[in-house]
Amino acid sequence: MTPTGTLDALLVEQRVFRPAPATIIEANVKPHDLAEATALAAADPLAYWEKAALELEWHRKWDAVLDDSDAPFYRWFPGAQGNIAHNALDRHVHAWTKNKLALIWEGEAGDCRKFTYFELYREVNRLAGALRALGVTRGDRVCLYLPPIPETVVAMLAAAKIGAVHVFVFAGMSAKVLRERINDCRAKVLITADGFYRGGRLINLKTVVDEALAGVRSDAAETVVIVRRSGDDIDMQEPRDLYYHDLLRQESPEAATEIMEADDPLFWLHTSGASGKPKAVIHGHGGYMVGAHHTFRTVFDIKPTDIHFCTADPGWITGHTYGVYGPLLTGATVILYEGHPLYPQADRLPSIIERYGATIFYATPTLIRMLMRYGPQYPKKRDLSTLRLLGSVGEPLGAEAWMWFYKHFGESKCPLLDTWWQTETGMAMISPMPISVLKPGSVGKALPGIDADVVDAAGHSVPPGQGGFLVIKKPWPGMLLGLEGDAAGYVSTYWEQIPGLYFAGDVARRDEDGYFWMQGRADEVLNIAGHRVGTAEVEAALTSHRFVSEAAVIGLPDKIKGEVAKAFVIPDPGWVEAFADADAFGAELRSHVRRELGPIVVLRAVELRDTLPRTRSGKILRRQLRAEELGEGVEGITATDD
Ligand code: WTA
Repeated sequence: MTPTGTLDALLVEQRVFRPAPATIIEANVKPHDLAEATALAAADPLAYWEKAALELEWHRKWDAVLDDSDAPFYRWFPGAQGNIAHNALDRHVHAWTKNKLALIWEGEAGDCRKFTYFELYREVNRLAGALRALGVTRGDRVCLYLPPIPETVVAMLAAAKIGAVHVFVFAGMSAKVLRERINDCRAKVLITADGFYRGGRLINLKTVVDEALAGVRSDAAETVVIVRRSGDDIDMQEPRDLYYHDLLRQESPEAATEIMEADDPLFWLHTSGASGKPKAVIHGHGGYMVGAHHTFRTVFDIKPTDIHFCTADPGWITGHTYGVYGPLLTGATVILYEGHPLYPQADRLPSIIERYGATIFYATPTLIRMLMRYGPQYPKKRDLSTLRLLGSVGEPLGAEAWMWFYKHFGESKCPLLDTWWQTETGMAMISPMPISVLKPGSVGKALPGIDADVVDAAGHSVPPGQGGFLVIKKPWPGMLLGLEGDAAGYVSTYWEQIPGLYFAGDVARRDEDGYFWMQGRADEVLNIAGHRVGTAEVEAALTSHRFVSEAAVIGLPDKIKGEVAKAFVIPDPGWVEAFADADAFGAELRSHVRRELGPIVVLRAVELRDTLPRTRSGKILRRQLRAEELGEGVEGITATDD
């Protein structure tokens, strides 16, 4: 892991974009606010976070902002009591937001359902009552295997409301994964749907559920609540299976909200990133709520009139924090879309933006690159003039995709916030704000209160321009409470690799202005003749070539150089006319990378592909490419991965 002779200042991006005067005038956080916040957060981070916590309602205030006596098992707001559902839902019913739209949902077939805060509140209460009637109490786990439908949001909030812990399993996961997760969490109840629509097809979820439950431990998922979405004829197994709508019919639209301790768990979410075995990350009611609320209000600059469209499935952390909790905590209106982003055509997402007048569009690099391949004619077909902010998260975006998204979705006037964070961090950590000067391909600076740095293996800061490990040096409220059943793993994975600092597992460099440039995962970094090169930087160099749509880079062992790079490239169709054959195209890409990054980066081979393997959440699976290349077993990589 030691960065020796690190390749400095790869791909220096010169373009900068300054905020329009109107953006500055209208921003929640203006330059002087940011300067003040940064100064306060630097001088007294706990005072900064206490101020953020005071923006929310609590049943009982904290005895201290942070208890670090058992670090790294930090406890935020010890002694405080409350419930995230109170702030996300109950309090709106007594405020002007009561009759405001909380949720706009669009089904793949074009059907639409809308819920005001009051309607959502009543629906959540009914499910909360039903879950209580099924015997679910504080601390019990409720497993959610649900597609992006309104009941998914209802289920998350209902579980929170009664103090149960939701454990989401993304609806694209296999029966095997679902079974493992149900067993691991000993879910009292499983909430699922009969089916849903994606890519023009009906996905029958219930058959997957039946397969999963066939081998499940006897004390788990004794009750299965099924939302009728597709209306398909499904096998109902009595007395285990119950229809959601039948259950709710008898329930009251009022239900008491359980009073939770700040560090009582709210949810578990499994993550493996693009590497390693899935771990169950735990987030709680207090700190996570403060982090989600504060960052959504400040980074996404949320206003009463905003309509936020987050493309992430509710089953991922992005969906949890910025698709459900962040928006509801701030009283915003959020759009949830059920189906495939390209169905029936590549203008589906632009059409949703147009139809509901979305003001913020938060997407992923995978999606942006996919839309880029289809071309600008699709966003052009639609009126996107309501948009005022764009966001990206999940992988390095790269300057070319950044420029494309900025230009074709934001008409070169919407700030593009490339937010860096993780399931573990719970909230955005490094990101521009609307008032920031933007550099395409950079995730900007650390947010106020976040002490991020780039260090060597011993934990010493490296000079600007030099690559190293991304660490967080002080605790932050949205941080994970731990890993379920694995206290030692929590310490060794996050706090011991670089002694005493939170190790994110990513490599990055920081420029002279303090802007971070993400280089990829630390375990995917190439070491070419002693020079550390991030996969993200070679990939960004490749995608800057006009005939490359997407690229994935892996390291291959080399007797002399230690490692050399191999690239898997999805070409732009135009390459066929421009080059004699694949060899000529490959040679051009090799010299292109040399021109961009210098002769150190040896690209041994280029393979053209139609698709790249991805995790379920859309991240490129470089591990799988490497395993295939080296003829190693790849079994299990995708099955258990997220
Ligand atoms: C990567 C998603 C570059 C990173 C919220 C991180 C990013 C992992 C960015 C976490 C970004 C996330 N630029 N890389 N803006 N955002 N990543 O847990 O490697 O699904 O460690 O959380 O995604 O992924 P996760």
